[in-house]
Amino acid sequence: MSALNRLQLTDFRSYAALEMVLDDRPVVLFGANGAGKTNILEAISFLAPGRGMRRVAMDVPVRHDCQSGVWALHAVLSCGEDEPFALGTGLDPQKRARRVRIDGQNTKTGALADLLRLVWLTPAQDRLFAGPRGARLRFFDRLVLSLHPLHGRVSTAYERAMRDRQRLLDEGNADPAWLDACEQQMAEAGVKIMRARADTITHLQDEIDAREASAFPQADLTLEALYDDAPKADAPDCVDALTSIFAAARSRDAMAGRALCGPHKANLQVLWRAKTMPAALSSTGEQKALLIGLTLAHARAVAAAKDTPAPLVLLDEACAHLDKDRRAALIDEVCAMQGQGWLTGTDRALFDAFGDRAQFFEVRDSVVKCA
Ligand SMILES: Nc1ncnc2c1ncn2[C@@H]1O[C@H](COP(=O)(O)OP(=O)(O)OP(=O)(O)O)[C@@H](O)[C@H]1O
Ligand SMILES: [Mg+2]
Repeated sequence: MSALNRLQLTDFRSYAALEMVLDDRPVVLFGANGAGKTNILEAISFLAPGRGMRRVAMDVPVRHDCQSGVWALHAVLSCGEDEPFALGTGLDPQKRARRVRIDGQNTKTGALADLLRLVWLTPAQDRLFAGPRGARLRFFDRLVLSLHPLHGRVSTAYERAMRDRQRLLDEGNADPAWLDACEQQMAEAGVKIMRARADTITHLQDEIDAREASAFPQADLTLEALYDDAPKADAPDCVDALTSIFAAARSRDAMAGRALCGPHKANLQVLWRAKTMPAALSSTGEQKALLIGLTLAHARAVAAAKDTPAPLVLLDEACAHLDKDRRAALIDEVCAMQGQGWLTGTDRALFDAFGDRAQFFEVRDSVVKCA
């Protein structure tokens, strides 16, 4: 079981100071619009490497008008039998970057991923299926990252090599050896990206397939390559095949001003299995149910992965569009998870099905009271 047993915030968003003492049960935060519920989930999301669930720069969450100009989060994380860990993160006053401490020692952000994983779902993702392809791929890459912690670094290497290559193409008359080198780097990183994504699809699909009778609809996931002759991720000569594709695309990419082929040109397709219908054509509530089903499958896949801590699951407004039966099913799933769930909603009654299986907090004007 992974759970936060203490959470302290200083000058984070609307919170000058917040302290919550918690047991291992799921946490329900309820209160009016603007009360400060999502801010708490966002703070927790900074316990994962990256820019948090609102995808902002490190200095953005600093509380307006605060004297210090920095924010901080401290948490106590329990993980089953082990001694609890003291985690700290926040804005470093000198470097204007992120600071991470584990048990009082400064460490790299990546070290957080060894201790805890996070899975989150926010209302901003409600239009995921019908929205732009890039946002869907970003969403999916975050799922990949929690199963393959190096995916972020590899993706950065791929993008850097792609930018370097494009600069050479834009300048014209580039030494082909330089282009070769960039394309080799792109292909090596690209194949790692493709394999991590393919592996993630397999794990997600296994978890989805294992729940035939769930209240959440089963989805069929595919990752479509949006360029011709894309190699299969498991092909032994995949690096060579990608290198050739990049080399053949030079003049086209030079004219377009961007790379038109490669793993960045991928589209996550989600099909509602029982209706054999694209998720984008489903109703608002149906899309939400599919998205929650996918998120829960993801949480189970991370929990089942070898040597991976069970993820904390942050569900912001997840109950908003759900009917009573689906709400109850979600609550049962959250109670069965190996990682603590954090749920928000405007109304306590949305969470009645928890009974005493959760700890309830009322949030009002950024004051949090045990309820
Ligand atoms: N940097 C900041 N400094 C101070 N206050 C902030 C900062 N950023 C956001 N806020 C405020 O925090 C308040 C609470 O926001 P939050 O998103 O947590 O509300 P919420 O309870 O989730 O509401 P809703 O139910 O509408 O989603 C908002 O009124 C917002 O203006
Ligand atoms: Mg909110």
